[in-house]
Amino acid sequence: MPIAIASDHAGYSLKQVLSAYLREQGFQVLDLGADSPVVSVDYPDFGFALAEAIAAGRAERGVAICGTGIGISIAANRHRAVRAALCHDVTGARLARQHNNANVIAFGARVIGEAVARDSLAAFLVTPFEGGRHERRVAKL
Ligand code: RB5
Repeated sequence: MPIAIASDHAGYSLKQVLSAYLREQGFQVLDLGADSPVVSVDYPDFGFALAEAIAAGRAERGVAICGTGIGISIAANRHRAVRAALCHDVTGARLARQHNNANVIAFGARVIGEAVARDSLAAFLVTPFEGGRHERRVAKL
């Protein structure tokens, strides 16, 4: 199943970097835009498109990127099917999977370096949900 990825203009460059990384790792990438770093677009449109792809089963996991990661993660989290975690480091990415069973990782392209974003995405993709006591908490979301 492909990994869906979406950004606004501010997240475009990091989206291209992370898409290339995913393809190198053998993943199929479902790129939902944006298509340019210079045409100003609205992050909710891309957060909603990502959420709809997850909800429709077109992707199991997603990556959402805007300038801070805040707006697009808020947008994606409006959908019941999405648990989007805004991550700034590998530890947060790992715990977002282990404790929160997050299915979308969000990044702020203006606040994170490419290497940390890539390593955080790698951790997010390989880390399983721990279940146990976290199952009950996630069910309450
Ligand atoms: C776009 O300028 C910026 O507001 C957006 O990328 C994001 O940071 C919003 O949360």
